[in-house]
Amino acid sequence: MTDQTLIILGASGDLTARLLLPGLGALLKTGQVPGLSLIGAAVDDGWDDARWRQRVADSAGVDLETRWIRADVTRADDLRTLVAAAAGPPAVFFALPPAVTARACEALLDVDLPEGTRLVLEKPFGSSRESAADLNRLLTRLVPEERIHRVDHFLGKSTVLNILGLRFANRIFEPLLNNTHVASVEIVFDESLALENRAGYYDHAGALADMIQSHLLQILGVLAMEAPISLDAGEFRDRKADVLRATRLWTTDPATSSLRARYTAGSISGKTLLSYAEEPGVDPARRTETLAELVLAVDTWRWSGVPFRLRSGKAIGSSRKEAVITFKKPPRVPDGLTGCDQPDRLRIGFGPDALALDFNINGPGDPFELDPVSLEASFGAGELPPYGEVLRGVFEDDPTLSIRADVAEQCWRIVEPVTSAWRAGEVPLLEYPAGSSGPSDSLLGD
Ligand code: BG6
Repeated sequence: MTDQTLIILGASGDLTARLLLPGLGALLKTGQVPGLSLIGAAVDDGWDDARWRQRVADSAGVDLETRWIRADVTRADDLRTLVAAAAGPPAVFFALPPAVTARACEALLDVDLPEGTRLVLEKPFGSSRESAADLNRLLTRLVPEERIHRVDHFLGKSTVLNILGLRFANRIFEPLLNNTHVASVEIVFDESLALENRAGYYDHAGALADMIQSHLLQILGVLAMEAPISLDAGEFRDRKADVLRATRLWTTDPATSSLRARYTAGSISGKTLLSYAEEPGVDPARRTETLAELVLAVDTWRWSGVPFRLRSGKAIGSSRKEAVITFKKPPRVPDGLTGCDQPDRLRIGFGPDALALDFNINGPGDPFELDPVSLEASFGAGELPPYGEVLRGVFEDDPTLSIRADVAEQCWRIVEPVTSAWRAGEVPLLEYPAGSSGPSDSLLGD
């Protein structure tokens, strides 16, 4: 690998400190990116080399060649200075709010980018199918699509990648994963975390864009894809795109296939939480949801007729992060075997990372009475945290884990009927107390 430079735009921010630098640090410790240098850039006053180096040492935990350059990232002159300071073709990471990212990309049109430059963007990629397409057109005027890394860190989570091994490296599960045997699929990411001072971003995004339109649709793409021939970028991304192209709302009526809610005051683990609408920086009139549910159909031969229920909520009393495949009942249980009619389930946990297969067998005691059992395996943590995994792809020029332009647009297409219905007030905004399990209504199964 040749020498390369990572330029972080918006390097003074929370994303850089909390996720990006720790991921980078973990990656560097594996020795896989020798000769990397780092440039931090932002327009904020009060930052200099010393403060930045301290931030890098604290958050990345590695000794790294780095410097700070004060820059207004929406000005071509400043961007030119940054690019000129890079050793080798840079990877430019936009750790910026989406509107600023778009303006920085506009400004980059006036900068000569060296061959091999990579652009790394954070979600959301646009705010609608149309704006995502505009952004994509702009990006491809800067660098070729294979060098555009739209980051979805869920694709760097080891359990999400483990779905591929679970499905395609044995003969046990895959023959069952289709509409002959599966009754429904749920992908749930309920967090006990609430707003965490992120109103500036979250109040414009909401749970639907923050989690479902992005991360959970990617999990759906991996869970429902046909077997890729290899895991190279083209194959893997094509198979995922096939699924998302075939995905649509379960019914044509968003009022029956979507649900939205927002938390009111409550407490979680003894900590009192304000109601979302009263959080500093929140504009209650925006009616931003902190919990969203969708029921989707995947119109393929394999999955036709199987509902995929996606849900994510903030400030939920006990977090639940898993995909659950619920199987249909056996065609006939012999007369005389009784006692338990829970459906069989395969559960893939995204934190803690675990796998469980729940089914009914003749349990202890009366041999004619069925009892539920669970075969469980827990996965150790992956070698790298998700951001480390994603950055490895960037430095190796491998876009496998990045979201391709067409997929970014498809994911907006899938949710667009819902966003329009919500905007038009056609679906009520429910409420749930922080610390509860969510609103009493839900589109999830039992
Ligand atoms: C982020 C969302 O992308 O993912 C957050 O913006 C969410 O709202 C987070 O909390 C969840 O991911 P992780 O990896 O922290 O569990």
